[in-house]
Amino acid sequence: MPTWKATACSCSNIALIKYWGNTDEVQRLPANGSISMNLDTLMTRTSVEFRDDLASDHVTLDDKTVSGAALGRISRHLDHFRKLAGITTFAAVESSNNFPAGAGIASSASGFAALTVAAAASLGLKLSERELSSLARLGSGSAARSIPAGFVEWYPGSTHEASYAASIAAPEHWDVVDLVAIISQGHKTTGSTEGHALAGTSVLQQARVASAPGRIAACREAILNRDFATLASVVEMDSNIMHAVMMTSVPALFYWEPETIAIMAAVRAWRAEGLSVCYTIDAGPNVHCLCTVADADAITQELDGMPGILEVRRGGPGRGAYVESVE
Ligand code: PMV
Repeated sequence: MPTWKATACSCSNIALIKYWGNTDEVQRLPANGSISMNLDTLMTRTSVEFRDDLASDHVTLDDKTVSGAALGRISRHLDHFRKLAGITTFAAVESSNNFPAGAGIASSASGFAALTVAAAASLGLKLSERELSSLARLGSGSAARSIPAGFVEWYPGSTHEASYAASIAAPEHWDVVDLVAIISQGHKTTGSTEGHALAGTSVLQQARVASAPGRIAACREAILNRDFATLASVVEMDSNIMHAVMMTSVPALFYWEPETIAIMAAVRAWRAEGLSVCYTIDAGPNVHCLCTVADADAITQELDGMPGILEVRRGGPGRGAYVESVE
């Protein structure tokens, strides 16, 4: 049997309109559509090699061997590609992030998008961007959004094939900057897979889901018109609504730390003073400060002066996932 090896890269993405809760946990069909921006400086590179001599899948992440539940999740993802190719061969997977593990920057989106593209390329599967996006979704919902380029919308769909993401605008369309304020860690948050399953226990989730299409439309228009003021209001509102659902689920999920709230307040104050900036927060304490290029340096300086921020990482709109090499 020939050796099949391919390497692929993918950007992480930040949700502007959030995905929280599924209608189907196994297929990760989301309760609502979402919109995101790929982040050009936060990348995962993954190589996949299907090899006859392996008795099981072997995975390393940043040179550390992956085992247990994390390995099981990756193996189950590889199973989709084995099935498509009609093989049972195991794979050696090597993955690395260009951002430090444990910094609280979610890597499942870029990780499963890169894994999807590398696995498909290594087996010579000819899949469309849409098919790759649906497949990436099975590994991690938000990974569906890291397949297309730039500003991306994920159509929720009610079947595997209908739930995929597509580009709304290319990365060059608008040079929005994401300044990720990384808050000191030292505590473990509830993972998003577990969190999604709790969303329905909040009495607010139904209202969030019902009102999501309006925010999606406003966000899409704001992107297309490069209208930062409208983007800022809908992005902050959507993040606040998702966190309201998290805080009122059973059990309640609180992702914010004191530093998180301090940055949120500072961002609002900077905006009142005339800077084009807004915040959005995922399932962790880090704050993504979205801003215009013109204001990015001033905001970086402000963030650098605040206590409790370990690091500020800057990202701009990134490209879609791509194959780097096939051997
Ligand atoms: O793809 P997951 O299961 O890691 O879920 C991502 C959930 C949020 O980051 C909180 C929101 C989003 O849309 O990215």
